[in-house]
Amino acid sequence: MSRKIIVIMGVSGSGKSTVGNLLSEKIKVPFVDADDFHPKANIEKMSKGVPLDDEDRKPWLEALNKKMNEAQDENGIILACSALKESYREILSKRITWIEWVYLEGSFELIKSRMEKRKHFMKADLLQSQFDCLEVPNHETTIAIEEEPEVLVNTIINKMKTSSFGILGLGVMGKSLATNMLNKGFSISVYNRETPEEKGIVDAFIDENFGRRVLGFTELKEFIDSIQKPRKILMMVKAGKVTDTIIESMVPFLEEGDVLIDGGNSHYLDTKRRSDYLEDNGIEFVGLGVSGGEEGALKGPSLMPGGKKESYTKVAKYLEAISAKDEDNNPCCSYIGPDGAGHFVKMVHNGIEYGDMQLLAEVYAILSETMNNEEIATLLSEWNTRKHGSYLLEITSKITKEKEGDTYMLDIILDKAGNKGTGSWSSIAALEMGVPTTVKNAAVHARYTSSFKDERVRLSKYKNQAEHKEVVNVEVLEQAYDFARTVNLHQGFQLLKAASDEFNWNLNLAEICRVWSNGCIIKSKKIKEYSHLLKEVASLFDDEGVILNLYSQEAAARELITYTLQHRIHIPCFYEAYNYWVAMTTARSSANVIQAQRDFFGAHRFQKVGDKEEKTFHYNWS
Ligand code: 6PG
Repeated sequence: MSRKIIVIMGVSGSGKSTVGNLLSEKIKVPFVDADDFHPKANIEKMSKGVPLDDEDRKPWLEALNKKMNEAQDENGIILACSALKESYREILSKRITWIEWVYLEGSFELIKSRMEKRKHFMKADLLQSQFDCLEVPNHETTIAIEEEPEVLVNTIINKMKTSSFGILGLGVMGKSLATNMLNKGFSISVYNRETPEEKGIVDAFIDENFGRRVLGFTELKEFIDSIQKPRKILMMVKAGKVTDTIIESMVPFLEEGDVLIDGGNSHYLDTKRRSDYLEDNGIEFVGLGVSGGEEGALKGPSLMPGGKKESYTKVAKYLEAISAKDEDNNPCCSYIGPDGAGHFVKMVHNGIEYGDMQLLAEVYAILSETMNNEEIATLLSEWNTRKHGSYLLEITSKITKEKEGDTYMLDIILDKAGNKGTGSWSSIAALEMGVPTTVKNAAVHARYTSSFKDERVRLSKYKNQAEHKEVVNVEVLEQAYDFARTVNLHQGFQLLKAASDEFNWNLNLAEICRVWSNGCIIKSKKIKEYSHLLKEVASLFDDEGVILNLYSQEAAARELITYTLQHRIHIPCFYEAYNYWVAMTTARSSANVIQAQRDFFGAHRFQKVGDKEEKTFHYNWS
């Protein structure tokens, strides 16, 4: 690993040259002072007390970058350079494999008093302009300058032997997140166990990232010791028992104030339990929902952190840096709420994901009655340019036309869908909280039904019905699809609202939608739209525009269902969306019959139309 390019940065007067020279003596890497590279014009400007602007600094930074590139191939370099802005650091970093940034941090008053004591072409008055310009870097080693230079240098040397962040578990997601962190310029330590099944994983990762700032470990204690305190460690391991076992084995090596982050798809109640257990041991815990699959993890996932706000604050800069960015370039990562709130929100994300996926599977089932795969793919990609545009729609269009040799992939793939549990957890939570999430529930059941393949094949042999082959009206299908997706999302939001009330989480639905607007599996134009709308209304059904739109699409949903009844096509999510909408827009339901039945056989009592709800009655049924 290369550690030879070190930039000591900070405002003028923070002691960069003193520290740089001393460090150079100790680690035997040549020292260079960036001040010596200023063009004459810059020096003159500064001595007259005129601050430099970006244009003045450009040739200077480019000259320094050239010097660093030469040094990279030779003995390395310790460069003392203010490097105040991110854009300056970008120029300095060009074509450099790895830079160890050391930021000397001190207050304005302290630095001003030091500058006044020494002779420097930079006037002390210019210091304010430097502070105004300073964009504190987010992946540096920060050193507070109060101590003597000797102490500062020893601290730097020690910090350089350690990393600022740890990632435990180099499976598909862990590896991608670790690479993402390196790409963002953080120094990391990685750990993976070494077993006959998981051999050489750490070595392979280190080889793939040769020259970058990563330390690899197969021993837990060494891994933990290599991370700067308070430690920040992201666990990317299989949710469930494995997570508990790993936490258990880490606890003896962790210290008060360390933050452990669980980035697996853990159940929100497990997160609460683990959080309490770790709190008893002085360790902080963040339950982090991570969405976006392998590509998202590498290029920018949507992140849903939950736990104590103070714990999130400690890890925010890392998570926000690696996350996807929304339309205004803000991180798709935002503090969600206490306890298991982050994992709860991820679970509901997955419930919505199940519904959206199943709706597209149903669209495919309908279209494939009369269209070939190329035609379906073309239609779906057309839809994708309109308001239904979504990541899932885009990939389903691609999937539909994908071929292996001459055969469509969809014709090769078995019609049985598995699951890892988050979809059913979402439905179970909804059932427990009394929230109808019928579209998601139907999607979970559709996966379960699909798994009975042998039985389905056996039973289908008895079927003796004339096959209808009318072409579906694609405009009707498109409207019905939009209708069902709105209902699916609304049901998910209602579940979030219920959980927020039950657990006092104070969830912000608009912000959650913003976090879901990029990087995650359910990202879509609709989610973006709702991230704005939900700032105005507490529920989609409080918005007249949404209601009128659903009413206008209702006929299409009905027509589609009629078509599929005639064609005997299984579309449970479309049915459930329609039925839910009908139920929610029917002023008088049939639940009066249920009340009467309960009172008849169990004297459960009933309420009366027009009376107070608290007032209940019993009737002596004959
Ligand atoms: C995501 C996904 C991801 C994973 C699901 C798969 O947001 O990136 O939801 O977490 O794909 O866990 O879940 P099933 O195996 O249950 O479909």
